[in-house]
Amino acid sequence: MRLGTFLISALKAPVWIAAIPTGAKSFVGNPVIGSPRLNRWGLHVARMRLAAFLAGPRRRWLGRRVAEDFRTAYARDGFVVMPDFLPAPDFERLRAEVLDEPWDAHEMRQGSTVTRRVLLDVARLRPTKPALAAFLRSRDVLSRIRYVASTGGEPAFSIQCILANAGGAVDDPQCTVHSDTFHSTAKAWFFLHDVGPDEGPFLYVPGSHVVSPQRLAWERAQSLSARGDAKRDHAEGSFRIPIEDLHRLGLPAPKSIPVRANTLIVADTFGFHGRTPSPATTRRIEIYGSLRRNPFAPWTGLDPLSLPGVKTRIGSTLVLLDKLGIARMPWRPVGRIRLDAPPQI
Ligand SMILES: [Fe+2]
Repeated sequence: MRLGTFLISALKAPVWIAAIPTGAKSFVGNPVIGSPRLNRWGLHVARMRLAAFLAGPRRRWLGRRVAEDFRTAYARDGFVVMPDFLPAPDFERLRAEVLDEPWDAHEMRQGSTVTRRVLLDVARLRPTKPALAAFLRSRDVLSRIRYVASTGGEPAFSIQCILANAGGAVDDPQCTVHSDTFHSTAKAWFFLHDVGPDEGPFLYVPGSHVVSPQRLAWERAQSLSARGDAKRDHAEGSFRIPIEDLHRLGLPAPKSIPVRANTLIVADTFGFHGRTPSPATTRRIEIYGSLRRNPFAPWTGLDPLSLPGVKTRIGSTLVLLDKLGIARMPWRPVGRIRLDAPPQI
C-alpha cells in the first residue's frame, strides 16, 4: 500500500468504524463494512442479528396501534395488501387532486424505466389538496408503515409515476429480485389505477422478511465477496438473489401482486422483492411512502424528521439536504409537468 493511500485510510478509518452501528450498508463505499476478513469473522451477520433483535420490541410497542389481522399478515408474509382502503368518495377526491394538475417533479432513469417523483409536504398541500393531505397524516396509514419499519419516525411521501419501457438500453435493476438492506425497512404504495399482471406489478417472496439460519448463511456468503461484485446495487448492500438461491433458502417463488385502484400495500423490503418486468409500455401512478431509520436505536422516537415544523415539510427538507450535499438524491428536477407527460430525461 502506498504511503498516501495508507494515510488517507488511517484518517478515514474512524468514520468507517463509526458507521457500523448505523444503517450504512455499502460494501464498496465502506472498507470496514465490506471487509471480507471482518465478515468472515461475522461482522455482517452480527449487524443483521442485532438489528433484528432490536426491531422485535420496537415493533411490539408500535403494534398497539395496529389491528391483529395486519400483524398476522405481516408476520406470515412480510407484506400486507389492503384493497378498498379508502371509502370510494374519499378515493375519487384524492385521485382528482393528484391527477388534475401539474406538479414540480423529479425524475430518475434506471435502464428502460423512468421513475417520476413529486416530493410531498403536508404543510403545503393542506390548503389546496385536503384529501391528499389527510391521507398522508392518516393514523391508519402511518401506524401500519411504522409497524412494518419498526420505527416511530415520519415516512417520506411522494407521488410516484413509473414509466416502464420508456426507451433506454439497460435492464431495470428493480426487476431483479432483491433485498433493500440488511434490516427491516418499510415501503408503501397506494395505487391510483389498477395494475394488471402485464403492467409491472410489485412482487414479493412471501416469508422472506424472516431472519432464518438459512438466510444468515446466505448473507454471510454474500458479505465475503459483495464489495467486488459487478452488480453495483449488490456491492452497495442491496443484495440481488438468483431464483435458485431462493429455493435453497427454503423460500417460495416470488409472488406477483396485481392490484385494483384504491389498494394500499405496505412491505418490509428487507424481504426479497422487485417489480415484475413489464412487456408493454406502461405508466402507473401511486402515492409512495418509505421509512428507514437507524436499525440499532432501541427506541421508536427521537426522530429529527418528526420535529414540529419539519414533519409536515419532509419533501422540502430532502430537497434542502440534497442541495447542501448532506444527503444526495438520485433524482433530478424536471420542472412543472403533468403526471401523464412523457419522460423528460
Ligand atoms: Fe427495492
